Amino acid sequence: MTDGNRTSRRSQAWFGASGRSGMLYRSWMRNQGFGHEVFDGRPVIGIATSASELAPCNAHLTRVAEAVKRGVWQAGGFPLQFPTMATGETLMRPTAMLYRNLMAMEVEELIRANPLDGVVLLSGCDKTTPAMLMGAASVDLPAVMVTGGPMLNGKYRGQDVGSGTHVWKFEEDLKTGRMTEEECFFAEGCMARSEGHCMTMGTASTMACMAEALGMQLPGSAAWPAVDSRRTEVAQSAGQRIVRMVEEELRPSQILTRRAFENAVRVNAAIGGSTNAIIHLTAIAGRVGVDLDLEDFDELARAVPTLVNLMPSGTYLMEDFCYAGGLPAVMAELLRGGLLHGEQITVTGRGVAENVGSAGNDDTDVITSLDAPFQPAGTGTAVLRGNLCPDGAVIKQSAASPHLLTHRGPARVFDSPEAYHAVADDPDLDVDENTVIVIRNAGPKGYPGMPEVSNVPLPAKVLKAGITDMVRICDGRMSGTGYGTVVLHVAPEAAVGGPLALVRDGDLVVLDVPNRTLDLDVDAAELARRRRAWKAPAEQHTSGYAWLYVQNVEQADRGADFGFLRGSRGHEVPRDSH
Ligand code: FES
Ligand code: MG
Repeated sequence: MTDGNRTSRRSQAWFGASGRSGMLYRSWMRNQGFGHEVFDGRPVIGIATSASELAPCNAHLTRVAEAVKRGVWQAGGFPLQFPTMATGETLMRPTAMLYRNLMAMEVEELIRANPLDGVVLLSGCDKTTPAMLMGAASVDLPAVMVTGGPMLNGKYRGQDVGSGTHVWKFEEDLKTGRMTEEECFFAEGCMARSEGHCMTMGTASTMACMAEALGMQLPGSAAWPAVDSRRTEVAQSAGQRIVRMVEEELRPSQILTRRAFENAVRVNAAIGGSTNAIIHLTAIAGRVGVDLDLEDFDELARAVPTLVNLMPSGTYLMEDFCYAGGLPAVMAELLRGGLLHGEQITVTGRGVAENVGSAGNDDTDVITSLDAPFQPAGTGTAVLRGNLCPDGAVIKQSAASPHLLTHRGPARVFDSPEAYHAVADDPDLDVDENTVIVIRNAGPKGYPGMPEVSNVPLPAKVLKAGITDMVRICDGRMSGTGYGTVVLHVAPEAAVGGPLALVRDGDLVVLDVPNRTLDLDVDAAELARRRRAWKAPAEQHTSGYAWLYVQNVEQADRGADFGFLRGSRGHEVPRDSH
């Protein structure tokens, strides 16, 4: 061993202790068959796994953990796997997002409370990646992430189908009679045909790319399909690498700088990533004291064309993205255009430019070039301001209909997604293609948890008339796999008295995405009158976690983290337990 830190290592406060204390710490560990030599001061590496059968996208992570362990042993470390909460997107109600902060808290506390010198973070499904990064950032011990990888491309009757994205399409087909119920059951199995997370460029794939772009996972990690043996190989490499990172004392605070976030925001634009990345990156930045606001996302992204042609905005899926060269190919192209900070340090101990080197692009339909991009610069996710969203709102232009990006139409207001769904199929619903559907009380405090309910399906009446898109406005989020002209993350939310709470049926809504505005064409005096008459909705929760959440969650533009979780609380060894 070259490193001289053995006795000063954090884990030695436990395993190196003399007398009764040290005996307690070591003896019980030995019931797992570890010999005394593992306590000799070698780096103790936690492997935080969010594997769970209730989070199908993460169910295989126990297998990934075995590869990480192998790498840690190979490099001379002592690996200890531990489970964390898993916020599975598909099953958790009212929304997995309600639990992201809880998971982040758990990850942070588990790392700090235990004899760990470094940690490998195994995530997959949407919220599990930001939750782990948030928790690890607040402890600031050396950390490397390994995401679990996407599922193989969905295959249904000869066509590629994307997780999430095709759920919306199949639903429309079912509604309009193009598909039968039995066909839908068959299609379900075709869509999810291997281990892994959603293989569209939804939130999970986006956040995996964000972890890589931030420099928190090894180059190439984001794209290997879950079942590809190179995923296992990269997991093993991560296990080896974390041991060296502990020796080098390379911590998240050195990696997660303002420049790393600028890189991530630009990469998100280039991959046509999920709008959820905005909220998660903002929350992660809050943990490391990096100032990142909504305007940064718009300004940084404006110069970046969408290079990656993946669903929901495009045609292909993550497996194709992997074979084309994955994120290193995208980052190499952005570097060529001077759009990334190439010297920014990453978990490899090297800079971004050195990591991606001369990564090649093996399929220019999937990963396009800056000279002939899939979508031109300035058409990514836009940040809006106006009297309807004084603290901002976002819209994913690439998932929207170009003709609706400037639109003026009457509002039809629903106080909850349920209120909309109750009448959405009514053939006499008072809407047409010019109507702006407003769904409110779906924000962080209002729902609570800010669920992905904003892209409500169009009313049956409109669908039957052959209309495929309408403007929708909501204080909630949209699945990263979703599409449509949907204004999201309206802040402040209706439940805290944001202007969205004041909209009435028939009010004219003016959306002007090229000029980045969203306004209600109602005069200020009338809005002030309505504000005086507004009453806050009754408290839904008076105890329990949901109460804690509503009391402490910040608005969407601040990342919807708990105010009291901002910043880092470090990794000082806590007081002795006995
Ligand atoms: Fe888990 Fe999409 S549902 S990644
Ligand atoms: Mg999702």
